[in-house]
Amino acid sequence: MEAGEKNLRNDSAKSTTSVETRIRYEEARRVPEAILELRDVSYSYEMRKGGELKVLEDLNLSISYAEFVGVIGPSGCGKSTLMRIMAGLIKPKSGEVIFRGKPLKGPTPRISLMFQTPALFPWYTVLENVMLALIHEKGLTKRDKEETAKAFLDMVGLSGFETAYPAELSGGMKQRVALARALVSQPDLLLMDEPFSNLDPLTAISLRREIETLWLNQSLPPSSIVMVSHDVEELVEMAERIIVLTDRPARIAGIVEVKLERPRQRRSNEFYDYVDKIYTLLS
Ligand SMILES: Nc1ncnc2c1ncn2[C@@H]1O[C@H](COP(=O)(O)OP(=O)(O)OP(=O)(O)O)[C@@H](O)[C@H]1O
Ligand SMILES: [Mg+2]
Repeated sequence: MEAGEKNLRNDSAKSTTSVETRIRYEEARRVPEAILELRDVSYSYEMRKGGELKVLEDLNLSISYAEFVGVIGPSGCGKSTLMRIMAGLIKPKSGEVIFRGKPLKGPTPRISLMFQTPALFPWYTVLENVMLALIHEKGLTKRDKEETAKAFLDMVGLSGFETAYPAELSGGMKQRVALARALVSQPDLLLMDEPFSNLDPLTAISLRREIETLWLNQSLPPSSIVMVSHDVEELVEMAERIIVLTDRPARIAGIVEVKLERPRQRRSNEFYDYVDKIYTLLS
């Protein structure tokens, strides 16, 4: 795909009305097969002192096209491990991961992972950090990559900071750079590991809104999002379906489908019924 085409897609996002957005979203939802499937996935770490630590046990999970899935579970239960497996960064010890109908063999630009803390290279500028995600796009010139990266930095509200270094940015701005980098390869699936946990409440509110808008616009990637969070209300506000995990080794304690209209009102009784359901599953 040409950089110009990508920018065009970016522009079309801005002109899409909410009705069109809704229609595209409904269409994408009707694709019957899953975008990502975990089949009997187990994982354990080898301990330095010998023995192994069982982290995930026989997980079966299916993520649909256009779906926004939330994941919650006790600290240390294996959520980040699960995200790394979904991203193809580590292989399950048993079971398999199927991405768009085929076994996932390793990392792919079609799946992006935003880490728990923004992992930026301190010696590269903001623009270079985002361009790094396009390193495998052999068909693009350096100029194309620069333009595409700039368009995505603009989208996350960082235009004007292209030549800054990570050390010159606030925590919220670093997280925005990480988001631009996760999105610039236009992935089908965006994985986010506690993306808002280190942000101040106001920055978190605006980034949440941006991500929700982007996801609802199904003419633009990503189609589907999986987000880990320890904030129950954040998940009820954003996710269509919430997977609650047990203590380590993580298994599925329950799945809650959130059937609330968007934008969701945190103060409503219905909202709190969902929050209570999740807490009950966690306890
Ligand atoms: N590289 C590693 N080597 C050995 N053990 C590890 C490694 N990474 C994680 N662990 C262990 O595996 C378990 C699960 O870790 P993981 O980071 O997946 O949990 P988590 O649910 O994301 O935790 P948190 O909520 O604190 O982010 C923890 O007990 C952790 O100590
Ligand atoms: Mg974690």
